[in-house]
Amino acid sequence: MSKTLFAVGFATIAVPAMGADPATIDWSKIPASAVTLFYPGQSSYEWLRNDHKKGKGAKAVADGQACVRCHEGEEQAMGAAIVKGGALEPTPVRGKQGHIDLKVQAAYDDKNAYLRFQWRTNADRPGTAYPAYRFDGKEWKSYGGPRLDQEVREGKEPAVYEDRLSLMLDDGKVPGFARQGCWLTCHDGSRDMPRTASTAEAQAAINKSDVRKYLPASRSNPADWRTVKPAAELAAIKAAGGFTDLVQWRAHRSNPVGAADDGYVLEFRNFDSGKNHFASNFDGKAKRPRFMFDAAKKGEFLISGLNAQPFDPGAGWKEGDMLPSYFLQPADASGSAADNKATGVWKGGEWTVLIARPLGLANDDDKALREGGVYSLGIAVHDDNITTRGHHVSFVRTLGIGAAADIRAVKLP
Ligand code: HEC
Repeated sequence: MSKTLFAVGFATIAVPAMGADPATIDWSKIPASAVTLFYPGQSSYEWLRNDHKKGKGAKAVADGQACVRCHEGEEQAMGAAIVKGGALEPTPVRGKQGHIDLKVQAAYDDKNAYLRFQWRTNADRPGTAYPAYRFDGKEWKSYGGPRLDQEVREGKEPAVYEDRLSLMLDDGKVPGFARQGCWLTCHDGSRDMPRTASTAEAQAAINKSDVRKYLPASRSNPADWRTVKPAAELAAIKAAGGFTDLVQWRAHRSNPVGAADDGYVLEFRNFDSGKNHFASNFDGKAKRPRFMFDAAKKGEFLISGLNAQPFDPGAGWKEGDMLPSYFLQPADASGSAADNKATGVWKGGEWTVLIARPLGLANDDDKALREGGVYSLGIAVHDDNITTRGHHVSFVRTLGIGAAADIRAVKLP
């Protein structure tokens, strides 16, 4: 039986019946944890082991010590220092806050874990926009970009990017994650990090167009992104659970269809198998969008089955016309990539995001949550038209499904 769980914008998405209706959970009865997220700048895996307080911090991190051993409660001060600019932030963003106070609540029933997050946004509106394609009279070109992009910093393009909330999760199988969390995955060479790999370099060494998050175990030299291990070795690490789950709620590319992405990090930031909720709206061969709005049902989001129809080059396009660069495909999202449901509502300057994740997932690219289990969790928020390192991040917290932890999910009646 199917029931309606998430009413979104002008569309209502039917999802299979799955435990409690999150909209009916009484969150005022569920304890809240305060988690401070801070601006990390370019504090990469490599910086932490080489330049981090020249010696003391570096040696401790290399020895595998927990960040909070020395930095407990320092998030606010660290964020304030880094965001201003300096060794860890070469291109400070004007008006960016040093930290974000995140409120976290968790619950579960027989079928799902429910995670609820609330935070104030820097802007006085929700960040639901995404860079678009703009017709210049001849061609469709990308328009707008995240604040750290050079064209945006120079004022040549407007600042546009979706707000996001991301969770990195481990069940104890990734060495060091419980102590150093997301900082294991953030490396020099990645986009917007020191010594960013060029497209040609990334293609030659790892057969990708750029470098993204990776775990140390995926490289023969963890501090050199080029040294990726052979596929058979990576497969063995994955089969043994040596990856982190990555759940991303996106204000433009997943929220309108009541979802959060499901991905994982091992040798790259991968999406789970199956089909994702969003796809590129660009036809690379024809060099034009794939879909346009149904004239009668325009909206902010382009959703197949709802308001999208095949692009018509003869539709009288004028200079300045714009179309979304991604479309959403709620009916096609499937498999492991489509496990997480989510809904986010922005009201009074604050997002409230609720993620529902099935318990006991059996896919080889998921970390299964189970009653009694305790997990390590890193949380990030991308706020105010920014991507890559421009997020605010947390030190590791524990999440217990009915078990004692920093964030304890309580069993619903
Ligand atoms: C043995 C103690 C120790 C450990 C463990 C440690 N650090 Fe540090 N860290 C320091 C010291 C000391 C400084 C310098 C603080 C200062 O100058 O105010 C520092 C500075 C930093 C800074 C720069 C802050 C700023 O104001 O510019 C960052 C970022 C940082 N550490 C992140 C981490 C992370 C992430 C981890 C875990 C992977 C970690 N540290 C583990 C001792 C430590």
